[in-house]
Amino acid sequence: MKYLACLLLLTALLGMSGSHNTNRQWTAAELAKLQSLTLANLPPVTDPSNRFAQHPQALALGRDLFFDRRLSRNGKIACATCHQPNKAFSDGKPVAVALATGTRNTPALLGVAHQDWFFWDGRKDSLWSQALEPLENPAEHGLTRTELVHFLLADAHYQPQYQALLGNIATADTLQQPPTAASPQGDLAQLQAWKQMPQAQREQIDAVFAATGKFLATYVSSLNLAPNKLDTLTQHPAALTPSESAGAKLFIGKAQCILCHSGALLSNQTFQNIGTGIPGKDSGRAAVLDTLRTDRFNCQGKHSDAPVETCTELQFLTRSRHAVSGAFKVPSLRNVAQTAPYFHDGRFATLEQVIDYYTQAAQPNTKDGNDLPLIQLDATEIQQLVAFLNVL
Ligand code: HEC
Ligand code: HEC
Repeated sequence: MKYLACLLLLTALLGMSGSHNTNRQWTAAELAKLQSLTLANLPPVTDPSNRFAQHPQALALGRDLFFDRRLSRNGKIACATCHQPNKAFSDGKPVAVALATGTRNTPALLGVAHQDWFFWDGRKDSLWSQALEPLENPAEHGLTRTELVHFLLADAHYQPQYQALLGNIATADTLQQPPTAASPQGDLAQLQAWKQMPQAQREQIDAVFAATGKFLATYVSSLNLAPNKLDTLTQHPAALTPSESAGAKLFIGKAQCILCHSGALLSNQTFQNIGTGIPGKDSGRAAVLDTLRTDRFNCQGKHSDAPVETCTELQFLTRSRHAVSGAFKVPSLRNVAQTAPYFHDGRFATLEQVIDYYTQAAQPNTKDGNDLPLIQLDATEIQQLVAFLNVL
């Protein structure tokens, strides 16, 4: 009822303010679509797999970890090196650069906790499990698991907080010998060193490692989205310029963007082949289906706090590589003006180029099996769509 009343009011208001401009007159169907893109539709974040998800002390600790450059091989790389607060927590580069140059573009993190899958190929099913990967990635933080855990449990700032949150954990001393670099993800020598450690010790290290991911995730999930002009359209119907309104109309209509970029995140959280994968080099979602199932830090693993039967996303994960070959996660478009360059490999510098790509990649002669609908837009329409994207 309330919703209907809002709609009627909005229709009336927009009708009035737009009398000089046909673009501002919305149909009820258009209004309902626009309404479906607003933050009001965003359910609260829950992550049963992270028992620290609502813990204020874990949040503060996670924030410290996120900005701490000491958590890296050269002492210069923090999560915030690539996820910069003034760029919606992205970095403005085509692909990430830290200890080495990576292959993927750094996504923004505002609102990220609302996603089902993490990374462009969705190879992680929780934020805490995601956070573990950059720490051990040789191109990013470049630490091994043992080095990281030893550092944290010996550090005057972190050690007491870990004790307080995790209770009865080993100390750096009782973890015996290694600050030797050892990890099941590392190079051959590191892998061998890991295998030579007693099982019990490996378990302890994994537990502290997983908890570190959970603290980081608690902080990352506090990075909320701020309302934009679309979200407040009901209160301020005239706030969209004619060009932005025309762009909004295209987005939900003729340009068919809403087919994939739907809901409050402007992403339907699926994986789609839009012709951006590179056969033999990056097949996107198809390449990670197996690792997702066997990941020891997934929702079903022993370090997850969620009851196994609640891990439905993993249970219903497709087994068909073919179905998701060349598919990447439909990214959120919130704050997209601040997150250039675009696409999983940062191939496009501007939003004009992205839209240009959409008009070309969908043509029958270039389509090559991708999921894109055929659309045609003239130069003005492209500018209008860009204007709308800049509102988000
Ligand atoms: C060297 C730059 C770099 C560093 C350092 C880094 N990240 Fe990232 N981050 C990336 C890139 C690139 C991706 C996407 C990688 C991919 O999809 O394969 C990413 C993806 C993510 C995602 C998933 C976003 C999404 O939409 O799926 C989260 C969350 C995240 N990083 C958090 C962190 C945290 C927490 C840390 C610190 C422990 C961290 N990152 C360190 C570059 C970095
Ligand atoms: C069939 C599903 C689909 C449709 C329809 C679609 N997109 Fe996308 N969009 C995607 C996928 C998948 C990606 C990520 C591709 C990649 O990274 O390789 C993407 C990426 C983007 C990006 C880059 C975001 C970033 O952070 O890098 C923008 C901008 C974008 N889309 C806008 C649009 C607009 C505007 C339309 C309508 C003209 C549209 N999309 C239609 C699936 C779709």
